[in-house]
Amino acid sequence: MSRVFNFSAGPAVLPKEVLEQTKLDLINYRETGIGISEISHRSQEFEELMQQTESLFRSLLDIPDSHAVLFITGGGTQQFSMIPMNLIAPGTIANYIVSGEWAKRAFEEAKKFGQVHLAASSEDKNFSYIPKTISLSKTPCYLHYTSNNTIYGTQFASEPEVIDENGNAVPLICDASSDLFHKPIAINKYSLIYAAAQKNFGPAGISAVIIKKELLRVSSETLPIMLNYNTYAKNKSLYNTPPTLTIYMICEVLKWLEAQGGVKEIHKRNIKKASIVYEALDRNNLYMPHAEKSSRSLMNITFHLPSEELDKKFISEAAKQNLKSLAGYRAFGGIRASIYNACPEEACYKLAEFIDAFPKMHA
Ligand SMILES: Cc1ncc(COP(=O)(O)O)c(C=O)c1O
Repeated sequence: MSRVFNFSAGPAVLPKEVLEQTKLDLINYRETGIGISEISHRSQEFEELMQQTESLFRSLLDIPDSHAVLFITGGGTQQFSMIPMNLIAPGTIANYIVSGEWAKRAFEEAKKFGQVHLAASSEDKNFSYIPKTISLSKTPCYLHYTSNNTIYGTQFASEPEVIDENGNAVPLICDASSDLFHKPIAINKYSLIYAAAQKNFGPAGISAVIIKKELLRVSSETLPIMLNYNTYAKNKSLYNTPPTLTIYMICEVLKWLEAQGGVKEIHKRNIKKASIVYEALDRNNLYMPHAEKSSRSLMNITFHLPSEELDKKFISEAAKQNLKSLAGYRAFGGIRASIYNACPEEACYKLAEFIDAFPKMHA
């Protein structure tokens, strides 16, 4: 059966080469006669795989020695709890930018673990823009923001600059679940940056957490063992059995990314892919893109048609053309085209053609 163009927001499309290689290694990993998901996580093969995965992470994202790379099960949502549990020190206040649903959930979760402060929000306009003005609390321990808002289709063009009232830089924490690896970033600007794998670098089951080593000192020893960053840092993310197949596939995706020319090259492609779709939306009056132009995401393109009925028609007619998984987030509706790294340019051209053709047929 041939594959379709999959615009799912996550779990999302993976490179075909990765799936083909996984098919082989699932039966016989590197001529061991054992499949990759049957190998012990204590075996030499798996330890080497873990090292290779970390080393690809480091080289592709240019991660300095000052930062550790941790692989943690539990998805992006688990980080909404682990960050405040580990990093709010007594007498300090955790600051949050709420620019979408996931950012809001991170903010709400943090309230359970200490004092929090809403430093900026774009909820007044249904999260259609990236807030520019940030107002920090006194004694901030960190500022958390979400670099790409998967549901609303907005994205920070660069990281927020934050200096507290005493002129000190506030530790920056970023949820990059839907855009890590989509462009080069300066990791040293971050105290912690994390991402769930299932959008841009693997299947579901794990989050990568890149954390400044000096921050590891802050966590209390009374935390549950699997919710303490130190457990992962001290044990190379192998304290207990990790999702081995997911890690294997992440490694394959990173090898694929390296073979494409790395994040610099993929960023150029992402800019082109997004412009193909946005230009089609902008030249047809029928569509109402959700994000303000200056806040548009390169990863998730969101728009509505004039009625829910037309939204549904667009989605079902697109599916007939093999353009699948275009429905917006369940509580938001409309259309969402997720065009992460592994989404081919051809998919964007086909979608743009369909965007042009649909008004003539159905509106
Ligand atoms: C930006 C962002 N953060 C966090 C999450 C939650 O991730 P998970 O479902 O792995 O908990 C998502 C999921 O779509 C997301 O898009």
